Amino acid sequence: MGKFIVEGGNSLEGQITVSGAKNAALPIITASLLADSPSTLLDIPALRDVINLCKILRDMGAKINREGNTVEVDPRSLHKSEADSELARQLRASYYILGVMLAKEGRARTSLPGGCNIGNRPIDLHLKGFKALGAEVELDHGIIEVKADKLVGDKIYLDYPSVGATINIMLAATKAEGKTVIENAAREPEIVDLANYLTVMGAKIKGVGTDVIKIEGVDSLHGDEHRIIPDRIEAGTYMIAAAITKGDVFVNNVLTEHVKPLIAKLHEMNVDIEEEIAGVRVSTDKELEAVDVKTLPYPGFPTDMQSQMMVLLTQANDSSLVIETVFENRFMHVDELKRMGADIKIDGHSALVKPGELTGAEVAAADLRAGAALILAGLVADGKTEIRDIFHVERGYENINTKLSGIGANIRKID
Ligand code: UD1
Repeated sequence: MGKFIVEGGNSLEGQITVSGAKNAALPIITASLLADSPSTLLDIPALRDVINLCKILRDMGAKINREGNTVEVDPRSLHKSEADSELARQLRASYYILGVMLAKEGRARTSLPGGCNIGNRPIDLHLKGFKALGAEVELDHGIIEVKADKLVGDKIYLDYPSVGATINIMLAATKAEGKTVIENAAREPEIVDLANYLTVMGAKIKGVGTDVIKIEGVDSLHGDEHRIIPDRIEAGTYMIAAAITKGDVFVNNVLTEHVKPLIAKLHEMNVDIEEEIAGVRVSTDKELEAVDVKTLPYPGFPTDMQSQMMVLLTQANDSSLVIETVFENRFMHVDELKRMGADIKIDGHSALVKPGELTGAEVAAADLRAGAALILAGLVADGKTEIRDIFHVERGYENINTKLSGIGANIRKID
């Protein structure tokens, strides 16, 4: 198991390029199975979750050729609608196989999904959606089975705008009979990217990016070429890396409208941001102002940026309040940050972050974004930080250590 060793104190300068979005790539790779012909997917990040998903789909019979950041999927040889349980447990997004295979074969089976341990992560809204479309759902000893002779469109109101449930219902509805309406749908850019791909494949979808999505089922879909959007969370992480080291970094390959909530907070904190077509330049040499942050579904401040933002707030001029409303247990990074000298007090869903210097320590990544936060803390800490359990980080960041080294960070990986 690898470790990152970070020596703090370097100011980051130069250009860093963001990879394709993991949370768009995973549903899009899975959605390619819906087609009757091959697809070519571009800018797929080479991440552990992607590799595991490709293994699952290969085991189901799909032919997948992954070369660099291009993935070709030929679904014509698919012969199984069951996902390998052991692999499926390792990534959250494996549950998209349910929506896809239900639409394609009227049947799917997989184990309850894994992913980050950030609280109880129920999938009741996904199952409610499948049932509304006419599927039978069975849950037994952690295995989910969904079946339907025929899916028929319906109106589905989501109690919460869940990203996963919106995607899974949209996938299932692409081939259902008639019209499906998802109300209180999630509006995340990754959902829009998936819908754009499904549309070029021949699906009929309206309203993505708003809270009402309408899908008119079609009989067949064909493969096509699609380029994945840039990863807004990876971009945000590098933007904070620039700000926390009082650096001057051009973060390349960013759709700035996707990082608006972060840009707004960084502005409030006194960080200079220049938005350009290709990306965003982040620099500062001023004192950082304390700000309060509350996570919300898109377009609110993303929960996936909460831990990184919290590290930045330890370097502000006063106390800040961070409120997590999306997940119930997403302060796993706090104990590790405390080992580095951070003064943070948690009360339920809120964390009071007091400013103070960080010092290098031996810490462990409890989940993907917690690991990213520890790297940021290491960049500004006095001395050496050793981060264990970096497999979490590598589930979501492509070559993070070499990318950060490229702009002057003192970070290396030990296998
Ligand atoms: C996705 C992202 C994750 C991000 C999250 C919120 C992927 C692979 N993961 O996760 O990085 O942090 O969106 O932006 O894309 N919920 C229910 N019932 C359900 C589904 C969700 O109660 O059936 C709750 C969850 O417990 C959570 C909240 O809804 O409290 C948000 O979850 P959701 O939007 O579904 O996140 P994911 O799709 O799991």
